[in-house]
Amino acid sequence: GRRVTVRDLAKAKREGEKWAMLTAYDALTAGVFDEAGIPVLLVGDSAGNNHLGYENTVPVTVDQLVMLSAAVVRGTKRAMVIGDLPFGSYQSSPAQALETAARFMKEAGVGAVKLEGGRRVLPQVEALVQAGVPVMAHIGLTPQSVNVLGGYRIAGRGDEEAEKLISDAKALQHAGAFAIVLELVPAELAARVSAEIDVPTVGIGAGAGTDAQVLVWTDMAGLTPGGVPKFVKQYADMRTLLGDAARAFASDVVNGAYPDESHSYH
Ligand code: KIV
Ligand code: NA
Repeated sequence: GRRVTVRDLAKAKREGEKWAMLTAYDALTAGVFDEAGIPVLLVGDSAGNNHLGYENTVPVTVDQLVMLSAAVVRGTKRAMVIGDLPFGSYQSSPAQALETAARFMKEAGVGAVKLEGGRRVLPQVEALVQAGVPVMAHIGLTPQSVNVLGGYRIAGRGDEEAEKLISDAKALQHAGAFAIVLELVPAELAARVSAEIDVPTVGIGAGAGTDAQVLVWTDMAGLTPGGVPKFVKQYADMRTLLGDAARAFASDVVNGAYPDESHSYH
């Protein structure tokens, strides 16, 4: 079988079929999601706080995400794998964006890249698409700008911000983006953007009116420590599951219950 392509996602939008996207940061987890039929996997810079132990996404480097992306590609057969261009790796110029995207494609084998921003990254989107790189855009809350925004807040509230979001989405579509992530946007606005553009929207904290939904896998699976935002639905309790397994193993070792005869060689 072949991998999911941008054409498949365009067709899904035309036919009104919704789809799910998850982040993935390693080969084994990505393989589980691939076998579960998740069509699109994002090697997000959310690896910063969800895989690499940083505070946020800002410190994540191209080298790190290329390595994780290569693992996700190796661990999957069918999913489209998207590499997230990290902070500082595309903002300077279209040439910088192309150089970074080329690394993700050549060294990791991703099928597309994602970058954050509206009008300010249009030249980057155009240059990438012209060079043959499918681009997923990302507007609304853009976590790489957390230090300018002063925190993670809902985006697009109020008429002026809403109009800006809609015009950014249209401009990104015009520049050639094959899909647009809408992060932390009021549901009504996200639905309006989704209806007014022809490429699929991928919502996260953006209500039910987008064409697709994405969640950070560690949030979705209940592995993230502490609380998760209101928009997250936790489909498993992996933190408890793994903690229980580790405690049971340690207790068996301390008590001499493991290894027993059935786990020994003679
Ligand atoms: O890095 C990430 O996980 C993302 C998604 C939340 C869209 O950008
Ligand atoms: Na990201």
